Amino acid sequence: CVGGRGIERERCVPPAQPLHLFFVIFIVGGARGEVRYYVPEELQPGSVIGNLMLDLDLDVAEMAKRNARVVAEGDRQFCNLNEETGFLLVSERMDREELCAQAAVCVLQFQLLVENPLQVYSLVLEIQDINDNTPFFVNGEIELEIAESTAVGRRFPLESRAVDPDVGMNGLQSYSLHPTDHFTLKLQKKADGSNMVEMVLDKSLDRENKEQMTLVLTALDGGDPQLTGTAQIHVTVLDVNDNAPVFTQKVYKTSITENTAIGTAVIKVSANDADEGSNSKISYYIINAEDVIPELFHINEIEGELKVIGNIDYEKSHHFQIDIQAVDEGGLIDTCKLQVDVMDKNDNSPVINIMSKLNMIPEDSKPGTVITMINVQDPDSGENGKVYCTLNENMPFTLKSTSNNFFSLVTDLNLDRERDSEYNISIKCADEGVPSLSSSITIPIQITDVNDNAPVFEKSSYEALVLENNTPGLSIFRINARDADQNQNARVSYLLEDSSVNGVSISSYVSVMADSGVVQAVRSFDYEQIKEFRFCVRAQDGGSPPLSSNVTVRIIIQDQNDNAPQILYPVQTGGSPVAEMVPRSADVGYLVTKVVAVDVDSGQNAWLSYKLLKVADRALFEVGAQNGEIRTIRQVTDKDAVKQKLTVIVEDNGQSPRSATVTVNVAVADGFPELLSDLTDFTQDKLHNEDLTFYLILALAAVSFLFIMSLIAIISVKCYRWRRERLFYKSGANLPVIPYYPPLYADVGGTATLQHTYNYDVCRTTDSRKSDLNFLKPGNDVTQRAEARGSCACTFE
Ligand SMILES: *[C@@H]1O[C@H](CO)[C@@H](O)[C@H](O)[C@H]1NC(C)=O
Ligand SMILES: *[C@@H]1O[C@H](CO)[C@@H](O)[C@H](O)[C@H]1NC(C)=O
Repeated sequence: CVGGRGIERERCVPPAQPLHLFFVIFIVGGARGEVRYYVPEELQPGSVIGNLMLDLDLDVAEMAKRNARVVAEGDRQFCNLNEETGFLLVSERMDREELCAQAAVCVLQFQLLVENPLQVYSLVLEIQDINDNTPFFVNGEIELEIAESTAVGRRFPLESRAVDPDVGMNGLQSYSLHPTDHFTLKLQKKADGSNMVEMVLDKSLDRENKEQMTLVLTALDGGDPQLTGTAQIHVTVLDVNDNAPVFTQKVYKTSITENTAIGTAVIKVSANDADEGSNSKISYYIINAEDVIPELFHINEIEGELKVIGNIDYEKSHHFQIDIQAVDEGGLIDTCKLQVDVMDKNDNSPVINIMSKLNMIPEDSKPGTVITMINVQDPDSGENGKVYCTLNENMPFTLKSTSNNFFSLVTDLNLDRERDSEYNISIKCADEGVPSLSSSITIPIQITDVNDNAPVFEKSSYEALVLENNTPGLSIFRINARDADQNQNARVSYLLEDSSVNGVSISSYVSVMADSGVVQAVRSFDYEQIKEFRFCVRAQDGGSPPLSSNVTVRIIIQDQNDNAPQILYPVQTGGSPVAEMVPRSADVGYLVTKVVAVDVDSGQNAWLSYKLLKVADRALFEVGAQNGEIRTIRQVTDKDAVKQKLTVIVEDNGQSPRSATVTVNVAVADGFPELLSDLTDFTQDKLHNEDLTFYLILALAAVSFLFIMSLIAIISVKCYRWRRERLFYKSGANLPVIPYYPPLYADVGGTATLQHTYNYDVCRTTDSRKSDLNFLKPGNDVTQRAEARGSCACTFE
């Protein structure tokens, strides 16, 4: 039995049920006789509250008779009276919290009614609180969303605070929070005295560090044992864009070859953002200001993949530095640098520029003359941009490298327009890339003429044959000289160089047409006077200064049969009776005489043959057809006449033969006297047709020397034969020219006439007009030296 907290009286109610404890506290009100019981709430029905009869000093039995009963003031009867025992018993559960809520004192008013007489006793049950309620949170799950950026010290009122229906110490006393690493609790007294619980941010939040946290808020009452209630505070840390994106690398490096195909991915950059949601949604941008980079590269905003969208040309840019920005949706940024090295490809051919150029150069340009300056550019780098140039083969030019990428095309050898008048110089420049690229240009160059070639005659010497007795003005032939030069430098004119032939200026023999080179005869030539002559023709070109060359022209005059043979012996003078004597004893083949004739023509025209034309006795004499020897062909007999007269015809072998006749008198006798007697006959015969006077004088002289002459003749014939044979042998088939022996010529020695035929080395003419003509030995070429006159120095051999 536990004593109640009775103020005036305290009774320990004996237990009616062993398992229950009773607290019966009653207070007897002074004047009114009021009984007050202090009853804990939540007593089981049937529990004894107190011995009411006893406490009111009433008799139980009497009360039963008087129909004592307890009447509740409210509509609920929480207790009743056991009439037999007089105990007040709990009849219904009394929940203080239900009855009085949070009232500090909870009392139930009853009346004890006793009839006979009616007596009323006030009965008060003061219901004592027990800690039968656990503090609880109306909403056990508190959801809080707190931005991570929330400042420290910020308070969060926990609206749904805990409730404990108990009162007093059993009511809600305090709170606690766990864990307390970010928040602390703060209780705030409200105006109504209740506590307001607040959570105060003690340490700043970081969503990136801890996004969710669950705090346990514990509400504590003051009962014993203490009861607690908890609520879960779910704190969701809301993301604040407090983290900028961060690139995985500050600097990215990569390289691409130039001319990379459009669309090729170069690199992928990426940035991370610690935030979440849209705060971590990153877009990538190229932020370079230069125009070129946005034209060449594009970055996928979402993926961060950089692609080529333009033509990457190493020659324009070797390197790109691309600034890339990563932006999250909250606008925070990070930048990185992307270094893209461009690698060269040999995609450029060398470019040849002609800086200056000559179209033509004179052929006498010295080696080393600059023709063209070229500049070669190859924008590629390294080997790809290293250029070497070559010329086509076999050109008299060379390329000289003057300075970097400058070349001068110079002449290397002496030029000769006559050999090559133009060149197509092709310059090929190639780089050293693999594969190598090249380009070439052709520089046509004309070689201009310089008068460096003298005219050249087609032949080293000219020779022409001219038939004698030509008409003056006859074009003999044409000489021709060529000049390898060009135009005026090659215009050849022909000049006859002055010289003299036999003391006469050559210009009176021939002329040369200056333009055509036609050589014309000026006069009619006579073979018998001049057989050949030479002169010199100069060919001169029109250059400045002119060049010239000369040539020797030899004109050979050809014989015509324009001269008849001339009988030298027997001499036909005025019909003098010259007789050859043949002794009767002469053997067969006796040489009677020899007819000697000459023909001033030459060759066939001078080849003489002899024939007997008229003879008394054909059987007695014959004449050598070739040598003109008259011989006997049979023994002379007595019957033969003393006087024999032979007519010999001498004929040359020309086309239209010319001839001469001679009469030979032959005396056939035994001695001189017989001969003399016969002479008169000869003389008389002759008188008919010869000059009588001359004949007589000559006959006398002839007779006187006849015998001597005969001897001489024999010797001469012998000598002649020997010599003729020798000459014939020497000159082959051609008979030697029998030199001209004009009738007016006289023997120097003045003796025998026959000798003249064989030795004409020195002949003096009796005619002074021809004293300047030298007749040299027969069979030798005529050599005449014309004097060199003027500038022409032709050598006549
Ligand atoms: C140079 O080229 C021109 C034009 O192609 C051509 O007519 C000429 O014959 C060429 N000259 C040489 C020497 O090849
Ligand atoms: C003529 O030709 C000869 C031999 O070729 C030469 O010696 C001489 O100088 C030439 N004269 C002229 C004027 O050309």
